[in-house]
Amino acid sequence: MVNKNIEMDWQRELLPYAQAVDELVVKFEGIKRDFERLNKPSPIQQVLGRVKRVSSIIEKANRRSIPVDQALNKLEDIAGVRIICRFVSDIEQVVALIKARSDYDMKIVEEEDYITNVKPSGYRSYHITVKYPIFSEGSIKDVICELQIRTMSMNFWATIEHSLRYKYDGKIPDDLKARLQRSAEAAFQLDREMDLIRNEMFEAMKTIQTNESITEKIIANIHKLCDVPDFDKVGEYNNEFITLYREGRLQKLVEFNNNLESLVEMYSQNND
Ligand code: GTP
Ligand code: MG
Repeated sequence: MVNKNIEMDWQRELLPYAQAVDELVVKFEGIKRDFERLNKPSPIQQVLGRVKRVSSIIEKANRRSIPVDQALNKLEDIAGVRIICRFVSDIEQVVALIKARSDYDMKIVEEEDYITNVKPSGYRSYHITVKYPIFSEGSIKDVICELQIRTMSMNFWATIEHSLRYKYDGKIPDDLKARLQRSAEAAFQLDREMDLIRNEMFEAMKTIQTNESITEKIIANIHKLCDVPDFDKVGEYNNEFITLYREGRLQKLVEFNNNLESLVEMYSQNND
């Protein structure tokens, strides 16, 4: 019976944390969707949220000699949101997005850059502790929440290392520790390689987009020339466009479009 009452209290005490996590997850997923709606690559790949389990809260409070009734005020990771990115440079973008709204809804109280300052374990991640206001039971309450921003490979490493830490009760044998450190470096090497590929990928995407937009412009200009009464070369221009389009040389298409633009300009002036 006593235990049940304590359990009930915890559940109530943790409600604001659960609400903060839920809201933050929705907001970061919203940011992700906005990028997707604009056909832009989102720096956010996945958003995960959790409220620390009561047993973990009690265990951490004991480890730090914090009286359990003060645990909620003293521990800063009761509410936690993890933002997973594809590329290391996406992390900077996410950090900038969070900073930009620091005066709006997520007030930054602390920042820890464990990417520049790698932990001895090999752990990498960017942590931002924020104060997030929620409306609960008739009043506004600030909830402290830890945001962990990391790449997929940093996340993969951290989850594996966390399980091993748990398995060995925090005392990972030295040889395994060394292997984990080495694998953290290998994972980061992969991240760095992927960052280089990312830039190439964006350049390719830009070329594809320019290609598409120039093609659209050419078609629009040919249509305009169709409307010119005494212009009888539309068929020729159309054939030339098809040839150039098949060749796929962007510069030639741009030059061709410039010619069309001048023609359209000339004929529209004649009509004025
Ligand atoms: P702790 O939460 O007890 O570590 O105290 P802290 O907030 O002072 O530490 P820190 O900012 O270093 O870490 C906060 C959180 O980052 C932890 O709760 C973990 O989720 C994560 N973390 C930090 N170091 C490691 C690590 O070496 N391995 C893994 N897997 N996670 C880590
Ligand atoms: Mg911390």
